[in-house]
Amino acid sequence: MHRIAVIAGDGVGPEVVAQSCRVLDLVASQDPAVSFEFTELPWGTEHYLTTGEMMPQDGLDLIRDHDAILFGAVGSPKVKDYVTLRDLLLRLRFGFDQFVNLRPLRLLPGVRSELSRWGVGDIDMTFVREGTEGEYAGLGDRLYPGTDREVALQTASFSRFGTERVIRWAFELARAEGKRLTSVSKANSLQYSGALWDEVFADVAADYPDVETEELLVDAAAMFMVRDPRRFQVVVASNLFADILTDLGAALIGGMGMAPSASLNPDRRFPSTFEPIHGSAPDIRGAGVVNPVGSIASTALMLDHLGHREWGDRVRAAIAMSLLDPATRTVDVGGRAGTEAAGDAILALLADGRS
Ligand code: IPM
Ligand code: MN
Repeated sequence: MHRIAVIAGDGVGPEVVAQSCRVLDLVASQDPAVSFEFTELPWGTEHYLTTGEMMPQDGLDLIRDHDAILFGAVGSPKVKDYVTLRDLLLRLRFGFDQFVNLRPLRLLPGVRSELSRWGVGDIDMTFVREGTEGEYAGLGDRLYPGTDREVALQTASFSRFGTERVIRWAFELARAEGKRLTSVSKANSLQYSGALWDEVFADVAADYPDVETEELLVDAAAMFMVRDPRRFQVVVASNLFADILTDLGAALIGGMGMAPSASLNPDRRFPSTFEPIHGSAPDIRGAGVVNPVGSIASTALMLDHLGHREWGDRVRAAIAMSLLDPATRTVDVGGRAGTEAAGDAILALLADGRS
C-alpha cells in the first residue's frame, strides 16, 4: 500500500491531477501487488484566502509519513506569486530536502517541436536541477521600501555539500545510463558561487573517469539547446538556471503541457513530490482543455520511484501512443481532444496492455 498525498492546488492543477489519479487507480486495478491510498489536501490559494495559510503550520508533519506527493500547480492572480509559491511548493521542496529536481525532456512522435529543424531522437535530455538552495535560498531583504533609496538584496547560497550531492547524483545517473553529463554554470561572472560549482564539478568528475563531461556557461547552454539539442543528454545545473532552461526545453518537446518533473529526496527520509513543470494556467482553468501529459508523465516518475519501473514504462508507452493520433491528443500539441478524452485514451491504451 502506497500512501499518496494529493495536493491538486490552483488553476488547472485539479484537472490534471484527476487524470493522474485515474492512471494510478487503473494500475492498482490491474496489478494485485500495487495499491494506493490517497490523502487529498485542500492546500493552495483558496485555502489561503479562507484561512490565511497556504498550508497548515504543521502541514509537513501531516504528510511526512506518506510515500509520495502528487502535486498539481500553485499560483493565482489573486495573491502575489512569491507568497503562494514560497509557502507551499518551495516549502515542500526545502522542508523535505528534495535536492534533485529531475526533468526528462524528450520529443515524442506525433508532437511538433518549436524547432522544426529537429525531430524525434534529436531531443532527449534529462535535467538534474538542484532543488534546495542556490538562487532560491530565499535570503535577502528590502531596505528603505518605497523610497528612492530602496534596495533589494537577494542572496544565492551555494554550499559545497549541496552542490556536491546533486552533482554526484547526476554523475550516477549519467553512468547508469551510459550518457554524457553537461554541467551548466556561470563562473565568468559569478566569481564565488559559479567558481565553487565548477570546482566541485571537477572534484566529483575525478571519481567518474568513465563518464564523458562537458561544461557550459548558462548563456551558451541556452544557445546550444536551440542550435544543437543533440549535444545534451544529462544536464546538471543550479536551481534557477535549470528552471529557466527547462522551460526552454519544454518548448523543444511540444510545450509546457508535455514536461514532467520529480522533486526527489533521494535518501528517502521524506516523501518526494511529482508535479508537471507547467504552472496553474489560470486563463484556461476549468475549460477542460489542459494537456494532462505533463502530470501523467510525472506520475510515471512516481511509479519508478515507488519501485514500479515496469508500470512507469507502460504509462510512458501509453502516453506516447496516445500522442500519435490527433483525436487523442490535446489542442496545444496539435490535437482535438479535451483533457478528459486525452486521459481516457491513455487509460484505454494502458488497460489494453498493448503499450
Ligand atoms: C517550476 C516552477 C517553480 C519554480 C515556481 C512555481 C516556483 O516554475 O517548478 O519550474 O520556479 O521552481
Ligand atoms: Mn519553472
